[in-house]
Amino acid sequence: MSELDIELVCVTKSFGAISVVRDIDLQIPKGEFVSILGPSGCGKTTTLNMIAGFNQPSRGDIRIRGRSQVNVPPEGRNIGLVFQNYALFPHMTVAENVAFGLKMKRTPKIEIASIVQSSLRSVHLEQLADRYPKELSGGQQQRVALARALAPRPSVLLLDEPLSNLDLKLRESMRGELKDIQRELNMTFVYVTHDQEEAMAMSDRIVVMSNGVIAQQGKPEALYRHPVSTFVADFIGRSNIISVERMVKRSGGCEVLVTGSEITLRAAVAPAQATPQYGVIRLEDVLVLGDTPLAAQDNLNVLEGRLDRVTNLGASLELSIQISSGLSLYAAIRSAEVGILPATGKPIRLGIDPSAVTLLNE
Ligand SMILES: Nc1ncnc2c1ncn2[C@@H]1O[C@H](COP(=O)(O)OP(=O)(O)OP(=O)(O)O)[C@@H](O)[C@H]1O
Ligand SMILES: [Mg+2]
Repeated sequence: MSELDIELVCVTKSFGAISVVRDIDLQIPKGEFVSILGPSGCGKTTTLNMIAGFNQPSRGDIRIRGRSQVNVPPEGRNIGLVFQNYALFPHMTVAENVAFGLKMKRTPKIEIASIVQSSLRSVHLEQLADRYPKELSGGQQQRVALARALAPRPSVLLLDEPLSNLDLKLRESMRGELKDIQRELNMTFVYVTHDQEEAMAMSDRIVVMSNGVIAQQGKPEALYRHPVSTFVADFIGRSNIISVERMVKRSGGCEVLVTGSEITLRAAVAPAQATPQYGVIRLEDVLVLGDTPLAAQDNLNVLEGRLDRVTNLGASLELSIQISSGLSLYAAIRSAEVGILPATGKPIRLGIDPSAVTLLNE
């Protein structure tokens, strides 16, 4: 088993009578890139602050490399921090900013110089060591903040929405850089974000939070393919969420009735207990059956509808299709496939593989 860097054991945090984080259990192995993902106010920063030591759990324990941190102050935890407002010291050069934490730790001068240099090299800023923060772009400033956090060689880096002040292009390129740095240093990263794409792009594991609790955790692809609730299905990627009832088990899966319609959907996997409430279908799993040979449609759920709207998103097209009064669906196809579409307002046939229908109880 790999060594655990951070462990949260049944951690609860209350402010007054309100518990904003409840019974969180989390185990983070050394060298893992973990994202804590969830909507505003779900408790992400509160959780991160408890790991950093800025606030104490009301109940439960936080362990770093097996040791309880209850009485350990933030500066004793060997943790680096990068926040949204990176707050560089304006009157210090880039190099002085990066050296700051090392001076505080009374690191010998000669060592400081070489650590500053290697930290700046790891974020590709060695050329800008003598500049002042106001002479840097937003992305460069954020990289200085990263170098400053890395310089004291923390065992763990906590990052709270570090890219949210940057424009989209820069944010996307910084994702790759952060992931590279993390991998190169083999450092544990705990990354807070409300941006599911960011979490999907960088993480070894994603912890989805909702309302102070963990809704689901796992590898990005597992959360995407097998969400346990409509909350997760809706938060990660794009889904059709359909209200269903009356499940009938069949060989090789089951059939459900779409609520308020006479449409039945086959699903390859029947839920173990109870009758499911929802069917979840990813947009890209709703196929447009243009000239698809009938034989190839055999195993699909085939639905007839009317193409209501086509939204051009550049690389893909998003379709809105009215199936019946009780059911409308979204689909996504590649822009190159535009040729298979009828005109808007015209009939369209859709196919959905039963294995793409996920049935959920909540
Ligand atoms: N010191 C505090 N006193 C009282 N309530 C607090 C305090 N700090 C946070 N909260 C509340 O706890 C809840 C979780 O806050 P937190 O900052 O952890 O959310 P978040 O997931 O980081 O949200 P965001 O994405 O907006 O940053 C919120 O409802 C917030 O108002
Ligand atoms: Mg926050």
